[in-house]
Amino acid sequence: MDAQHEDGSLFGDDLLPRPARVLAPGAVWVPGFLRLDQQAWIAARFEEWADGPVPPRSPTVRGHEMSVRTVCLGWHWRPYAYSREAVDVNGNRVLPFPDWMTRLGRSAIAAAAQHDPELAGTPGQPDPEHAASPYSPDTALVNHYSADAKMGMHQDKDERSLAPVVSLSIGDACTFRFGNTETRTKPYQDITLESGDLFVFGGPSRLAFHGVTRIQPGTAPRGCGIAEGRLNITLRETGLDG
Ligand code: SIN
Ligand code: MN
Repeated sequence: MDAQHEDGSLFGDDLLPRPARVLAPGAVWVPGFLRLDQQAWIAARFEEWADGPVPPRSPTVRGHEMSVRTVCLGWHWRPYAYSREAVDVNGNRVLPFPDWMTRLGRSAIAAAAQHDPELAGTPGQPDPEHAASPYSPDTALVNHYSADAKMGMHQDKDERSLAPVVSLSIGDACTFRFGNTETRTKPYQDITLESGDLFVFGGPSRLAFHGVTRIQPGTAPRGCGIAEGRLNITLRETGLDG
């Protein structure tokens, strides 16, 4: 290699691969988990869900309308409960949770488990008592962020199951803040989730506070299927009866 290029100057940082990182036990970031064609396919499904029985809406939390717009599959989430019908929107039953998402969720857990033994061996169920049952998400919260949308620090704790949350991002990058399980303040780590990135939080990190401090407009890769803003899908096991 040409000596002048040995410091990496031939390739900008954006072309260097981003390695997977374990932020805390059970919290794994896998950059570039989804290929571009998979991102575009999922983005096209979002258009269909948005035209479905329950339109995207911004949930109201403690009197404030959230800036994201959300569509749910399997179970409808409202602060702070799940139901089959979107009782705070139009009363319609939400679309079913698709089988392909179960497969995607399982492959996401398997990818994350390669980097963190907390998630390994017992897909989706670090608790040895449940070791035999594979990860079986039954709800997806699909959030669309416009350029100025954010999400404050919170825990995902309306589920009865402590199986991991699988988070997938498509479109503009965001600054994602991953905190601790005790407080919504420091210590926390800020990372950039890009289009195609996977983030899993389970095990000891399942109830960690997290949020989105900003969207980075204009960073969506061409061909990801999201022209503006950011799509985030979180898969969860509600632990509620079918
Ligand atoms: C969420 O916490 O439900 C969404 C997180 C994200 O958008 O990355
Ligand atoms: Mn959350």
